[in-house]
Amino acid sequence: MSKIATLEIDGNKYEFPIIEGTENEFGIDIKALRGSTGGVTTIDPGYKNTGSCESAITFLDGEKGILRYRGYSIEELAEKADFLEVCYLLIFGELPTAEQLEKFDKDIKEESHVDEDMKKILDGFPKSAHPMGVLSSLTSALIAFNPGSVDVDSEEEMYGAIVKILAKFPVLAAWTMRKRKSLPLDYGDNSLGYVENLHKMMFARPNQSYVADKIVNDALDKLLILHADHEQNCSTSTVRIVGSSHAGLFASLSAGISALWGPLHGGANQAVIEMLEAIKADGGDTAKYIAKAKDKNDPFRLMGFGHRVYKNFDPRAKIIKKSAEEVLGSLGIEDPVLDIAKGLAEVALKDEYFVKRKLYPNVDFYSGIIYRALGIPTEMFTVMFALGRLPGWIAQWREMRLRKEPIGRPRQIYIGENYRAFKSISER
Ligand code: CMC
Repeated sequence: MSKIATLEIDGNKYEFPIIEGTENEFGIDIKALRGSTGGVTTIDPGYKNTGSCESAITFLDGEKGILRYRGYSIEELAEKADFLEVCYLLIFGELPTAEQLEKFDKDIKEESHVDEDMKKILDGFPKSAHPMGVLSSLTSALIAFNPGSVDVDSEEEMYGAIVKILAKFPVLAAWTMRKRKSLPLDYGDNSLGYVENLHKMMFARPNQSYVADKIVNDALDKLLILHADHEQNCSTSTVRIVGSSHAGLFASLSAGISALWGPLHGGANQAVIEMLEAIKADGGDTAKYIAKAKDKNDPFRLMGFGHRVYKNFDPRAKIIKKSAEEVLGSLGIEDPVLDIAKGLAEVALKDEYFVKRKLYPNVDFYSGIIYRALGIPTEMFTVMFALGRLPGWIAQWREMRLRKEPIGRPRQIYIGENYRAFKSISER
């Protein structure tokens, strides 16, 4: 029997249906709230209790530490799938057959060139520009070179836009890094796999032949998979809400990149390494920084700790911690920053402040350590996150358009001045 929620306001009762998801999650459907109550709305800053959509892409259970893409566990996908298979799975709903994967890969490669004039735009940025700002701008600029809007009723047009962005985005991301490093821009090599090619585009030297490294490639592949989707987080909600105005895919993605940039979201991976470096430079006194994080008069937060949804453990952090140890071991790297990270985690996990607030290491706590080991500069970390999150954003944008969701437009409760008569400047 379907469940009903009853709301009582000033003695009047209103009933609302309760929607049940496939994993026994319940949501009170308040679509009729304002209409039936004569304009009463809800208030939920940060949307901590508000579901913005029904979605069939990613399931996560923050209490149990479960994360699944289209029903497949993140642990299995990180172990057994490659990033391109995960892209296909997230966007189209099923793991690809060998033929589907081959076609997907071929179609992406067909689109992997970027208009030469894009180089002029890149040229206009100062070398010191943060790669996330550059990437967001270049993604927006792509619209000018691909002006046709996508007819969402045409699977073919939708598919065309998707392979285009999957192909061009890694080129743009790699170019933002090469520009900072004063390296000539590289188009990669279509005989390589998606992730290997990304690595080549980032690191190939003009005077050396590129040699792929399996350890590096596998680590990158895993990192991209772990970041590929995370349901309705800040950047994904941004992509969906921008897309809900029927802005195109590239415009919606560019907005998502900007949302991801912030240190409370994707920018945390850069902030974690900067924090660990600062602790190291300050003598490695982890206790001092734990105390700072607990001090309410100190704005310092332990970056890489805590999560809006995970209140037990972040399953991605578990996989990535193991992977960080393996990668550093295989590459023969000893990084004192990893020891500081482990020391901080050890203390925080036993400390009442963190335990009571259910603050655990999140995915970003260890990802930066691997990126560093792979030679990726700190300011590129959030770009790596964006590269991983791209299929998730695309999948969520596609789902939102196919479900013909209405334009996103939250309400508010106005708390400003009541009507007042205009005063001329001499009366103020
Ligand atoms: N260090 C110290 N105290 C913290 C931290 C932290 N990292 N995170 C939360 N708290 C405290 C916070 O001060 C508050 O304490 P009190 O109840 O005494 O006021 C309590 O824990 C709840 O915090 P909140 O800010 O209300 O929690 P939230 O769900 O709104 O925020 C968060 C989640 C991820 C923004 C936050 O934990 C944070 O700022 N963490 C550091 C940044 C970070 O690592 N972000 C990456 C998130 S994972 C990657 C991604 O998916 O984007």
